[in-house]
Amino acid sequence: MAAPGPSTHQTKLEGYDFFRKVLGSPKYVVAPMVDQSELAWRRLSRKYGAQLIYTPMINARMFAQDQRKSYRPEMFDLGSGEEGGLGDRPLIVQFAANDLDWLLKAAKMVEARCDAVDINLGCPQDIARRGHYGSYLQDEWDLIYKMINNLHKNLSIPVTAKFRVFPTIEKTVEYAKMLESAGAQILTCHGRTREQRGHNTGLADWEKIRAVKEAVSVPVIANGNILFHSDIEACLAATGADAVMSAEGNLYNPVVFMSAPASSSSLADPALPSTWCISSDGLHLPHTHLALEYLAIVKSQKTRTKGSAVKGHLFKLLRPALGRETDLRDRLGRIQIKRLGDSEAWDQYEALIKEFDERMQRDARAAEGRPVDKLITVHESTGLKMMPHWVAQPYFRAMPKVVEQAEKNEETAESVVAEGGEPQCASADVDIPPYGSAAGKRAPSERTPELDELAKRVKLVREDAAEPLAAAS
Ligand SMILES: Cc1cc2nc3c(=O)[nH]c(=O)nc-3n(C[C@H](O)[C@H](O)[C@H](O)COP(=O)(O)O)c2cc1C
Repeated sequence: MAAPGPSTHQTKLEGYDFFRKVLGSPKYVVAPMVDQSELAWRRLSRKYGAQLIYTPMINARMFAQDQRKSYRPEMFDLGSGEEGGLGDRPLIVQFAANDLDWLLKAAKMVEARCDAVDINLGCPQDIARRGHYGSYLQDEWDLIYKMINNLHKNLSIPVTAKFRVFPTIEKTVEYAKMLESAGAQILTCHGRTREQRGHNTGLADWEKIRAVKEAVSVPVIANGNILFHSDIEACLAATGADAVMSAEGNLYNPVVFMSAPASSSSLADPALPSTWCISSDGLHLPHTHLALEYLAIVKSQKTRTKGSAVKGHLFKLLRPALGRETDLRDRLGRIQIKRLGDSEAWDQYEALIKEFDERMQRDARAAEGRPVDKLITVHESTGLKMMPHWVAQPYFRAMPKVVEQAEKNEETAESVVAEGGEPQCASADVDIPPYGSAAGKRAPSERTPELDELAKRVKLVREDAAEPLAAAS
């Protein structure tokens, strides 16, 4: 295997220089997510603390070839100037590829519109097996080396790589070192193996991520097992990584990166909105407000958002209440999206979510004065903390036995999510196993300037839904 050649771009910053000076030393990273880390979601996530975001995976050959005319504007709209423009940085554009030339061609098309280009070496789904990309390249080190090295030598921006671990620490470390030697300037390590998908998902292995971090000299982003804000520090401590990437945690609670003030308890504090929930594990805002805010962003952009992305986000955000408000859930599922950027559909969603919001406010009012430990409960079989149903919170995807039981008892999470139109590259990659986040002790209520500031921001959105983008960008 040849040694990496020097970059043709003398001014290109690399490794930690790039991480610090260009990206601003991000700690909170939103994962690449097909159909879900699109521009509107990125704007919402940045408002709530995300410091670096990846685009959804783009098929390099399809993007570069442009045979299907709708593919480019759907995946990365180069025309409107919004994607990768001001307010959408730092941004890393992710590609799936298995061909050096197509990858370079596609990367060249976006190099002026992002801070780095990433290669997806982690997708474990059958579509990746058929397409010969993602984790199915994991055994073709020579090809991977060449793809990374070609971008390293020929792009004016850095190349990065996101990969899954191998069954052993030794092989994982060897692999990571190969990626680094090829020229990858950041490594994102998802602590699950290629085989850990669907019902075999299980926990991400933070020990392997730690071994990678210790073995390489470029920044490492840890990925896997983040449900609550409190998991982020735990992950950083356990792995020694420079940053933490979240996919599902961010989708179900886009506020996951914001820390709750150390000693506050909104539920017990009459001065704070009774719909908020703050615990030692993090901050949980009303999902209906977040959904309205997201829709307002979608509506205000020139860049058109795919209907499947909007629907997917709404079903995930509102999930804690969908099992209760089944009439609204059914209506949500029936809204037809006829085309890319269908503004009539957005209006229908907005009206429906306002109805949802009224019911959530009704429930929050009814709960006022109830002891906090009656509102935050612990899920029996998983030990996970369950927040009140009106706030955004992590979704625990149950293991097979739990699913079976749940199917007998009630409508399962799987079917609810299915109605939301879960995109490709989603379910198999992201199952979250039973994961102990014991019920936190709630500290006494205390107002802080940080909380007041947040209260103002959330209120602003609620009262004037037409203007949240200003706050978001
Ligand atoms: C909806 C969805 C779409 C995803 N799409 C991609 C993708 O485009 N590229 C990628 O590398 N990983 C993709 N993933 C995997 C995530 O980036 C991440 O590695 C995985 O979900 C584990 O992180 P988590 O535990 O925070 O969910 C996707 C995950 C989800 C939930």
